[in-house]
Amino acid sequence: MKVTVVGAGNVGATCANVLATREVANEVVLLDIKDGFAEGKALDIWETAPINLYDTRTVGSTNDYSKTAGSDVVVITSGLPRKPGMSRDDLIATNAGIVKTVTENVMKHSPDAILVIVSNPLDVMTYCAYLNANIDSKRVFGMAGILDTARYRAFLAEELNVSPKDIQAVLMGGHGDTMVPLPRYTTVGGIPVTEMIDADKLDAIVERTKKGGGEIVNLLGTSAWYAPGAAAAQMVEAIVRDQRRVFPCCAWLQGEYGVNDLYLGVPVILGKNGIEKIIELDLNDDEKELLRTSEAAVRDVKGVLDRLSL
Ligand code: NAI
Ligand code: 2OP
Repeated sequence: MKVTVVGAGNVGATCANVLATREVANEVVLLDIKDGFAEGKALDIWETAPINLYDTRTVGSTNDYSKTAGSDVVVITSGLPRKPGMSRDDLIATNAGIVKTVTENVMKHSPDAILVIVSNPLDVMTYCAYLNANIDSKRVFGMAGILDTARYRAFLAEELNVSPKDIQAVLMGGHGDTMVPLPRYTTVGGIPVTEMIDADKLDAIVERTKKGGGEIVNLLGTSAWYAPGAAAAQMVEAIVRDQRRVFPCCAWLQGEYGVNDLYLGVPVILGKNGIEKIIELDLNDDEKELLRTSEAAVRDVKGVLDRLSL
């Protein structure tokens, strides 16, 4: 198996490191536009192999897509990260240009690849990749829900003083402040979370989750990378090992949840073909309303991309 990660910055390099350490592929290619940057990161990661005891080769490339040829999965993290005071949507024009060019180059050399998009604004950059990849939407999807649920699960684990391993949750909608964590589908070792925590504390955790990306930006001056990189790597692993994991992912909706022609976060089964199935939950009226609000927010950003006519 061969995996390419485009963008050797914070998220891309972290993702490549997790993929190598977990031996998810035989070869991981890191590609970046900055001269020598991907080669340096790939070499540094490779030099951890004797310490971390794995065999995966990491190879760096400065914009030479021939090195990515024949990749089974390609993760696209190239683009600008968010800076303080900047919304994800501010990034759209620059990152859409980058995602378009990268997708075209990737597909030229790996026509059978599955694409996992990470660049922001996530839902619309995934759409941008889909428009330019010209392949089945089951092979183009975005990473956000695993990260957002991980934040939600981590906050809950901290509050309840239990292992994060035992918190299971579903979160839907766009990767932004309108995302929809679903307490009704959140359990602690199989117990409904509402039986374990007061409503006001749960509300506060839901609100903190929605602003989880911004919380890190305010602390670091740039956006997160450990959890995003690990989340993208978890998606790659599910595909490469055909694990049929159930994850919230940004998927192309064609009528599911009453949404048409839009990439939005929904629970899916991920396996060797990419999105094996979109799972449709029986949402109540309040949840449907929250999803509609999130859909509208993503449609606004999609409108910006459509008007750019890239
Ligand atoms: P970074 O700035 O550390 O890395 C981005 C890399 O992309 C840089 O090394 C840059 O040289 C490279 N790049 C730019 N244009 C390129 C091109 N045309 N071809 C190849 N490489 C190119 O940024 P970071 O923190 O790694 O974030 C990457 C992206 O991921 C950002 O758009 C960020 O907003 C997004 N992100 C998305 C998350 C999600 O949940 N979906 C979570 C965290 C970040
Ligand atoms: C995050 O949620 C900024 O999308 C990035 O950390």
